[in-house]
Order: sequence, then structure tokens, then C-alpha cells
Amino acid sequence: MTHYLRNCWYMAAWADEVAESGLARTLLEQPIFLFRNGEGIVKALFDRCPHRFAPLSMGHVTDGVVTCRYHGLAFDASGTCVHNPHGPISRALATRSFPVVEAHRAIWIWMGDPEKADAAQIRDLAFLGSAPDTAFNKGYVLGGGNYQLFVDNILDLSHTDYLHPDTLGGGSITRTRAHVEQRDDGIIAIQWDSYDDVPPPLVRQKMPAGVERADSWTHVEWSAPGIMKLVNGAVPTGSPREGAGNSINVHIMTPETATTTHYFFASTRDYALDDAEMNAAIGRIRAQIFSTEDEPMIAAQQARMGDQGFWDLKPALLRIDEGAVAVRRRLDAMIAAEQGEME
Ligand code: FES
Ligand SMILES: [Fe+2]
Repeated sequence: MTHYLRNCWYMAAWADEVAESGLARTLLEQPIFLFRNGEGIVKALFDRCPHRFAPLSMGHVTDGVVTCRYHGLAFDASGTCVHNPHGPISRALATRSFPVVEAHRAIWIWMGDPEKADAAQIRDLAFLGSAPDTAFNKGYVLGGGNYQLFVDNILDLSHTDYLHPDTLGGGSITRTRAHVEQRDDGIIAIQWDSYDDVPPPLVRQKMPAGVERADSWTHVEWSAPGIMKLVNGAVPTGSPREGAGNSINVHIMTPETATTTHYFFASTRDYALDDAEMNAAIGRIRAQIFSTEDEPMIAAQQARMGDQGFWDLKPALLRIDEGAVAVRRRLDAMIAAEQGEME
């Protein structure tokens, strides 16, 4: 059985995925129905009618009341039954509700003890909300592997040199030792600072003509459960970094099941903010790389692992795994501590 961290905020959806009529999505192996009430505020219910277990997401939402399509029981956003066409309303006629918050263009859900849900604990990703539409692009992939494999993928970016050699990888990450730092605020930072090396193909395109070598930086900041900010940029070798322009991205992994992952990604930047065409091109290439190169590799990796645990298989770890292993150990410790509290 897979244990998940419960008392934390998971990204459930991009905000624009949830209309008033709702979105059904499985999170941490639980069916959840996300919808909007009459004021447009996002709500979440356990997506199973207490009567005969029909998905509530197959019903209708009117002014924040969800009516089951099978026999007409109706529930408000707290999961309380507000209408029973067949008789009185009893306490058994209720479904669970979950705390949800809309922030940073995303919907965040608390799958643990609702008493502990504090919106102030949502990771500060304000740069997503403040980016103009012409400098913000995003995507979503339903990935065929455990969420920790998808997290590992971002924490060991040496894979770009092999899996994405025509776009994101040029060999410099492999030649650069990552610096891993565990911070007091719960962030684990992994940084590659490369000097006078060959830039990856996509970076080279942005360099002045004739520039063959660059200084580049790629900084990832992970926080639990699977939220990563990734900042990168490059300048011709020896040029000042200041004002060079950063690509500022997120990769956010939420478990769907033990072997499937909701992979949310987005990209913003601090240069060429009004270049809508560039923005669309960045969005297209990223979605293509993640869905046709990363996801199939991780799905194949998961298939080879079957239902065996990562550590049970005794992975032959390399130096490049330092960051990913630090994150796995941190998350495992957080989950173990939470399980201990619940016993
Ligand atoms: S299953 Fe929902 S009302 Fe019967
Ligand atoms: Fe990748």
C-alpha cells in the first residue's frame, strides 16, 4: 500500500480546468469532484454518492448544489444533503468535502485533516499569477508512473543530455556537478552553474550569431510534496549574468494512483514579456518534449519496476542522484512522521 503525505497542499488542477459544471479527477487514489459555486468559488467533494455510489460528477451543479443523476439526492459544497426527493434527510446522507483554494492560476486541495488546512502554507508561486498572458504558458500530462519518478526526473537534469539532445541537452549538465542544499524552510535546492561550455540547442538559438560557448545556470527548488520551481538562463562565456533573462518554470507532480501522476507544468520569463509568438512557441516545444520524451521514458521505467518499491529494487545510484535521493529521504521522513502521528 502506498502512503502519501496527507497534511499538505496538492495541486489538483489548473484554475481554468474547473468550470461551474466541474471536473472529476482522481487524487491520491480518491475520486474527487471539483466544481464552482454560484459565486465562482472552487469547491471539492468526494466523488461518490452515499446512496448507491454513483459518481456525483455525473450529476448537475446549480448554484453550488450538486444533484446526483441517479436518484436525485442533492448536496451542498460541504457535502451535506440538502434535498432528498424520497424522504427525510438523515445524517448518513452526506459525502466528504475537502478544503480547496485557488491561487497562482491553480487549484490546491488538502487531502489530510481539514482542521490543519492553512492556505498560508501554499507554496508561494506568485510569479505565475503576476505573469502577463503573453509570458505565461502551461500544460498538463497524465503520466504513467509514480509521482516520485516524475519528481526525480526534474531533480536530475543530466537526463536532458541524453533524452533531449536536440533541444534541452548539450552535455553541460553532465559535466557540471550539482550543488545540493537543504534549507530550513523545507526547500531542497539543486543548482547547476556551468561555465564556458557548449549550450544546449534551444539556448544556442537565443545567443548572438557566432557564439559557441556559454555560462549557464539551472536552479531547481523542490518543496513537498512534489512542487518544483526551475529557473534557468545563459549568457555568452564571460558576459555578466545580470539582465540576461531568466526562464522561470514550475513542474508540479500530484499522485493520481500509485503508478500514475498528474504532471502540471508552466513557463514564465523575465524578458520579452509581450512576445506572444515566442510564448506560444515555448509552450509548444515544452509540451512536446514532456509528453513525447519524458513521459514515455518514465512510463517505461514504471513498467519495468512493476509494483515493486524504488528502494526495494536496490537502485545502483550515481553521483547525479544526490538531489533526488535527498528529496526522497526528506519526503519519506515526512510521511513516516505523519503516519506515526496517526497511529
Ligand atoms: S446513487 Fe446518488 S441518489 Fe442514488
Ligand atoms: Fe526531461
